[in-house]
Amino acid sequence: MSSLLIQNGTVVTATDHYQADVYIEGEKVRAIGAGLDYSAERTIDAHGCYLFPGGIDAHTHMELPFMGTFASDTFESGTLAGLHGGTTTIIDFAIQTQGDSLTAAVDEWHRKADGHAVGDYAFHCAVTDFNERTKAEIPTIINERGINSFKTFMAYKGALMVDDRQMFQLMQELVEHGGILTAHAENGDMIDQMIEQFLQEGKTEPRYHVLSRPAICEAEAAGRAIDLAYQSGSALYIVHTTCEEALAKVKQASLRNQKVHVETCVQYLLLDESLYFQDGFEGAKVVMSPPLRKAKDQAALWAGINQNLVHVVATDHCPFCMDQKAMGKDSFAKIPNGAPGIENRMELMYSEGVEKGRLSLNKFVDVNATAPAKIFGLFPRKGTIAVGSDADIVIFDPEVEHTMSAETHHMNVDYSAYEGWQVKGKCRSTILRGRVVVDEGNADVEEGYGEYLPRGKFNAKY
Ligand code: URP
Ligand code: ZN
Ligand code: ZN
Repeated sequence: MSSLLIQNGTVVTATDHYQADVYIEGEKVRAIGAGLDYSAERTIDAHGCYLFPGGIDAHTHMELPFMGTFASDTFESGTLAGLHGGTTTIIDFAIQTQGDSLTAAVDEWHRKADGHAVGDYAFHCAVTDFNERTKAEIPTIINERGINSFKTFMAYKGALMVDDRQMFQLMQELVEHGGILTAHAENGDMIDQMIEQFLQEGKTEPRYHVLSRPAICEAEAAGRAIDLAYQSGSALYIVHTTCEEALAKVKQASLRNQKVHVETCVQYLLLDESLYFQDGFEGAKVVMSPPLRKAKDQAALWAGINQNLVHVVATDHCPFCMDQKAMGKDSFAKIPNGAPGIENRMELMYSEGVEKGRLSLNKFVDVNATAPAKIFGLFPRKGTIAVGSDADIVIFDPEVEHTMSAETHHMNVDYSAYEGWQVKGKCRSTILRGRVVVDEGNADVEEGYGEYLPRGKFNAKY
């Protein structure tokens, strides 16, 4: 069995940080302590570095078929980029095609990922067509396919959106069988009306993307999802939350002791809506839904993390190259929605969060790894550094400064949303299940090393 000893690093978990050695045997952490005396096949000196649990990106879309094209990262390229940036596990969305079954979607996502991903992966299942047949599949998806989280889209009518009755029935099923509902909260009907009006007025540029999807659309839908969850008793996780108004709905729900799990994404903490108002077609790079918001929303999200109102920071990694974005040259409504980020999340959150004093080290670990592992049933195998857990560890040098750029990133996309950003702190090495898969920027991992992570029923205790 392989063995690895990491010496002199500072172990950081969601609750502690302390200097210790970590001894790894095979795929698991076997011992943690000061001055461990093990002879290992390989020893790494991590002096001056943090040892973070491998990042978990709870919201990605590899090879997603969407808006007439496909997200440009495969499971191989996207998870490899993740490893470079300290993310060792993703949870991707297996999205039902309307008219088809959930089983077909899960099978299709396994075809894309199995034997190809280099990082570990689990799936959420997105229910776009809830009917008697779909309903009957829920227990099988949870108990036999290892998926306990189900997404509904409250926007994108005609392709992905379900109505309230479907969503409510799905929630009832999840209560019965042990699942959690994850909601894309935007009022699709309001948005579609505004899109149509702008286009009729000849307003076609990327800036109309944000103007047609104001915060009120998100807040209204978030409030509705929260109410439906309250009435059904369902666990609820709101994906890619962007704004103060949506957070206000979550706060309000807490007054009746309703627990709502909230995800935001790194771009909503760091980028703002002014990017849509740049000259020409530049704004298309950040066309995503919901759109980027204002500085006051960023402030509310950072505060929300520290108030334990926002639990998870993901990416919604859904990259499209500029020739794909160009499908919307003549209409903002045809720009494929999504942006890259999986490789940047951990380093940005460290540099802009910890280094700038907005986040503690423990909160950094919590939102990037521990909380998503707990909510989605991967803990304690994933999401922490502990004896018996998978040895997924990022050796992170907090002193190294570098510049983000499409020239140097590993994501299969020809622009960076953070082009030219100077960041402090870098993933020096990434270890996945005991194996050093990235070392000083060099990857050493073969296609298919990533493992599928089946999960049990949703456990409200976490
Ligand atoms: O713009 C986005 N978010 N694209 C991916 C699909 C989704 O809604 O998550
Ligand atoms: Zn979404
Ligand atoms: Zn998404």
